[in-house]
Amino acid sequence: MNNFLKKKFEFKNGIFSFDIIDEKTKKVTEFYNEKPFPNYKDNDNKQTILNKGDKNILANQFKKFIGYKKNVLEVGCGTGQLSNYFAIGTNNNIVGLDPTMASLNLAKEFANNNKITNIQFVNADIFDDVLNDDSFHFIWTNGVLHHTKDPYGAFEILIKSLKKNGYVLVGLYNKFGRIRTILRRYIFKIFGRKIIEKIDPTLRNLKLDENEKVAWIRDQYIHPLESLHTFDEVLKWFKIHNIEFVSSIPSSDFDYDYEDIFEKKSQGTFFSRILNQFLMIFNSFGADGGLFVLIGRKK
Ligand SMILES: C[S@@+](CC[C@H](N)C(=O)[O-])C[C@H]1O[C@@H](n2cnc3c(N)ncnc32)[C@H](O)[C@@H]1O
Repeated sequence: MNNFLKKKFEFKNGIFSFDIIDEKTKKVTEFYNEKPFPNYKDNDNKQTILNKGDKNILANQFKKFIGYKKNVLEVGCGTGQLSNYFAIGTNNNIVGLDPTMASLNLAKEFANNNKITNIQFVNADIFDDVLNDDSFHFIWTNGVLHHTKDPYGAFEILIKSLKKNGYVLVGLYNKFGRIRTILRRYIFKIFGRKIIEKIDPTLRNLKLDENEKVAWIRDQYIHPLESLHTFDEVLKWFKIHNIEFVSSIPSSDFDYDYEDIFEKKSQGTFFSRILNQFLMIFNSFGADGGLFVLIGRKK
């Protein structure tokens, strides 16, 4: 895919690169440069990344829905596991953007080693607004905007590059859903890693290797910049930018139907949304860090 960048770039190790200037973004990139997230296992290859992606209900449905010959942007792609997953076995054009060079180097290395050619990486801060307008059919940004100085400002910039009728998926930490993690963060500060390994469901349940554990602990408990959000906040962002609500996870209404995330669902009422966010404290959404996801379509 050509012509998706509107500003002058340098080409470093096969990555389109821009200087990272903003102090807050620099602080965040220093954090991830130390330990890129999410990390690859030593034996990861096309098949393992494909299996991992297929097991992720959201990523799997997203990839199927994209279809073929589409332009897809992942904002805050980190080490590009998902971007690479979206690219594998398709003729879509995938662009992964992230300000952390160490992460992108791993992303690019994986793509090169596995001969994934329909993918390009951009080393940039979203706030530097380097992407051309109306370029992408799909934008995925999960677990990213809440690590920026101004999540709405970042959304406002990225949404310009979405084409009409294109879909955007935004995943953010929830004000209610993250309460358990915040409590665990205090416990981590006082008692350290041993206790956290016992009480954090992700660390307890998954067969993570040491690198993955360290990356998760850093990301959840010692991140330098993080904010919390609500459904209604993102709905407001959608409204301002003419984005029609498609669905959310957890549900905004009482349907709890996640079989087809691109099928238009009810956005419920203020009450149903508050209740479903409150319930995150007690269900698996709150156990795993409190992320919620909204999907919208540009009108
Ligand atoms: C928690 S990681 C999420 C990585 C990936 N999206 C995932 O779900 O595994 C957050 C990512 O956001 C990126 N990020 C932080 N600030 C950013 C900014 N201003 N513009 C674009 N990406 C940013 C970080 O470099 C990091 O890779």
